Amino acid sequence: MKAITQQPIGIFDSGIGGTSIWKEIHQLLPNENTIYLSDSKHAPYGQKSTKEIIDLSIKNTDFLIKKGAKVIVVACNTATTNAIEFLRNNYAIPFIGIEPAIKPASLNTKTGTIGILATKGTLNSALFEKTTSSLNNEINIVERVGEGLVELIENGDIYSKKMTTLLKKYITPMLEEKCDYIVLGCTHYPYLLPQIQKITGNKVKIIDSGEAVAKQVKKILQQQNLLNSITSKQPNNTFYINKDVRVLEAMLKDYENCEISFLNF
Ligand code: DGL
Repeated sequence: MKAITQQPIGIFDSGIGGTSIWKEIHQLLPNENTIYLSDSKHAPYGQKSTKEIIDLSIKNTDFLIKKGAKVIVVACNTATTNAIEFLRNNYAIPFIGIEPAIKPASLNTKTGTIGILATKGTLNSALFEKTTSSLNNEINIVERVGEGLVELIENGDIYSKKMTTLLKKYITPMLEEKCDYIVLGCTHYPYLLPQIQKITGNKVKIIDSGEAVAKQVKKILQQQNLLNSITSKQPNNTFYINKDVRVLEAMLKDYENCEISFLNF
């Protein structure tokens, strides 16, 4: 029987965006086996009710546990802010979630105004509300729902004209309000960084939580003695998607040892 340390890190997202988190985890912990579930058929989660997001998160968690996950990374801000409390209260397995990096942005801003681009589900969640109300109340937060962005990314239309138009619409008000930090509060959005940077120029810092999540995964694995110490040249990275396999393949084209399959889920 395989030692528990060799079991995979389970990761799920409403779609392919969570691969931005998988990449950070894989870079920091190259020895680890991983299993990633892209629930693209049900994306976007950001427009769904909390109950629907919890139900989908339960389904994803059950799938990853069945596949032998030793910990679960909720690589989705929307699922984390709406469902992680429920998951932690109902499963024994450790969960690592992701939340928009508004704390570091609020600590480092010089203008006192920060922007956040996230889904409706994240911005309306109780957890997000709790985090924003814990910030220094002199900080002004310009919130924008990135409506339509996840759908375009899921369709492989990252560099489309429509994407540029939407990004200009969401980012321009942040610039007008003098935001010097823009927080990407959705794991799909790091894939839009070059286009966003084109709109903002170099004066605005654009941040996300990917690296912090990977560090947190490492910390939890260390604390629970779950780090995989067996050095194998070929860690096993399995990806399941219940929609278009090609979009996921394109996202992972620079990575070796990735096995991508369609899943009727
Ligand atoms: N990647 C998800 C997130 O971080 C996208 C949410 C959605 O499907 O709307 O929020």
